[in-house]
Amino acid sequence: MSAFITEHKRSQLNGLYRPADIGRQVTVFGWVQSYRDHGGVIFIDLRDRSGFVQLRCEPSPWAEAHKVADTVRSEWVVAARGEVISRGSNVNPKIPTGEIEIAVHELEVLSEAQTPPFEIKDGIDTNENTRLTWRYLDLRRPELSKNFVLRSKVMQSTRQYFTAEHDFVELETPILMKSTPEGARDYLVPSRVHPGQFYALPQSPQTFKQLFMIAGMDRYMQICRCFRDEDLRADRQPEFTQLDLEMSFVCPEDIYTILEGYAARIWREVLGFELQLPIPRMTFQEAMDKYGCDKPDLRFGLELSDLTALLKDRVEFRVFADVLGRGGIVKALYLKDGGQFTRKDLDVTFPQEAAPHGAKGVAWARVAANGEWSGPVAKGVSEALRQELNAHMGTAEGGLLLFCADKPSVVNASLARLRLVAGERLGLMDKSKWAFCWVTDFPMFEYDEGEGRWYAMHHPFTSPRQDHFALLDGDPGSVLAQAYDLVVNGVELGGGSIRIHRSDVQQKVFGLLGLTEEEAKQKFGFFLEALKFGTPPHGGIALGVDRMLMLLTGSESLRDVIAFPKTQKASCLMSETPSEVDAKQWAELHIAPRRA
Ligand code: AMO
Ligand code: AMP
Repeated sequence: MSAFITEHKRSQLNGLYRPADIGRQVTVFGWVQSYRDHGGVIFIDLRDRSGFVQLRCEPSPWAEAHKVADTVRSEWVVAARGEVISRGSNVNPKIPTGEIEIAVHELEVLSEAQTPPFEIKDGIDTNENTRLTWRYLDLRRPELSKNFVLRSKVMQSTRQYFTAEHDFVELETPILMKSTPEGARDYLVPSRVHPGQFYALPQSPQTFKQLFMIAGMDRYMQICRCFRDEDLRADRQPEFTQLDLEMSFVCPEDIYTILEGYAARIWREVLGFELQLPIPRMTFQEAMDKYGCDKPDLRFGLELSDLTALLKDRVEFRVFADVLGRGGIVKALYLKDGGQFTRKDLDVTFPQEAAPHGAKGVAWARVAANGEWSGPVAKGVSEALRQELNAHMGTAEGGLLLFCADKPSVVNASLARLRLVAGERLGLMDKSKWAFCWVTDFPMFEYDEGEGRWYAMHHPFTSPRQDHFALLDGDPGSVLAQAYDLVVNGVELGGGSIRIHRSDVQQKVFGLLGLTEEEAKQKFGFFLEALKFGTPPHGGIALGVDRMLMLLTGSESLRDVIAFPKTQKASCLMSETPSEVDAKQWAELHIAPRRA
């Protein structure tokens, strides 16, 4: 083993060297990011996770080291000893170590490397699939690895805050467990010992954390992995990490207070940002009315206007009249600085953005002098109506109106999307702004017309508001839940609720969700039973840790904060997962491949 490792311990990480170190005799280790021969003097940029430092190898008097320097190639692992010296007038102000370099006296190659499939350097523009295939090489880039160092620090603070300062107990729950529905498909694991039976990987440890409350643990926290087989997007991974919390004898206020203290601490520690507390709150209804979605980006206004009442029986524009006649609604998004949107935006971009949300079109009107309108809607609106609409939305010359007419779910989702598209284009998504918000008073149930049944909007363990219990029997659609989401800059960071703690209410909710008594017993019998043995009123929340890191690092995708992420197709390109298994394993698990 090299003396560099057994005797000459590393002085510090490479990216930390500063002029204050000048004159020190130091030992460095790292990967060769680049090497240049400048007429005899060889310069090596030596990288580690902290950044890099420049090594200077002179042909004399350290001829041995210079000879070794002449052989090194990119990504070789080397060790060096030498003296930290000033770069004199050759300072590179672009890098933190740019004022110094290390005059190398000894150099040793610890490991050679093949030529990497892409250049390992910050700011590269390599195709993401290539980077994912050689993820460990990509992770060598300080730009990426710093996210994981930060992640580790955030997890350390998280434990400190909850366990040391707020008396939470860190507890673990099983990974091989019985399915807990969180609205996604389960990942299933066939049992070898029990032919035909399966474990489910947790979509969340929801039932188990509630069982901890029944067990008297009082305050639970876990940084846990959750698994959901759902369609993936930039902010969704099939396996992701939750900061999972549950508390006994609490109301939503208590949970808000604990979480607000936590968010303020993390945002202060990581970004030096002072979060104003308390975090503002908005009901689900208000969020839908004003922003068309339950996770509004509140860094900017651009509120939607519901024009249904004003237009009903008065508007001539055919599309609107038809929709209103069928009981639909019309809402509009008013853009004061609408002038910059071109005809192509109006006729192509906006409709294309809205279409996936069900919009059959996007009608528009430009506001001219004297409140006159131009565009497709203009002719279908009388002078008097137009003036009322202008007053209602506070329009001015140069403004642009985007309209959507349909059933409420389509109108809201479409305009919510257009609001974001416009907000982005108008430069309103300021990365230095942090708009936190609690969204409260979610409906308990959502009706799926296709399937003709109710679904739990959060999950089936969420308690209705106390004063809405009676509505469960006659009017489930109007029952509000004691559920809340924490939203940051339009990202749903977390969600939770006060739980049902009565077995009879839980049974009733299962019934409303279409589970027969028999099915409920088969799926959740253990849980319904537990509720009968003295359940404290309790509630909790789970934050998406990856999403939080994505926000804190300003990343565009969860993939930048998950060390070994999956692609949009839920595969790991590096290890080629998922993969086939051999026939013996199939047989042991009592399952057989289905051939198409
Ligand atoms: P929920 O399903 O809202 O609640 O999840 C909580 C938070 O987890 C994050 N999250 C995800 N992050 C990355 N990829 C995904 N596929 C993904 N799905 C969810 C989100 C979300 O807000 N058991 C309840 C919590 C509770 O009631 O206490 C639950 O899991 O940030
Ligand atoms: P049409 O009469 O279908 O050609 O549509 C006239 C205008 O109304 C076009 O600008 C369409 O994009 C728009 N439009 C069509 N359907 C809707 C709708 N449901 N909501 C808002 N605008 C629509």
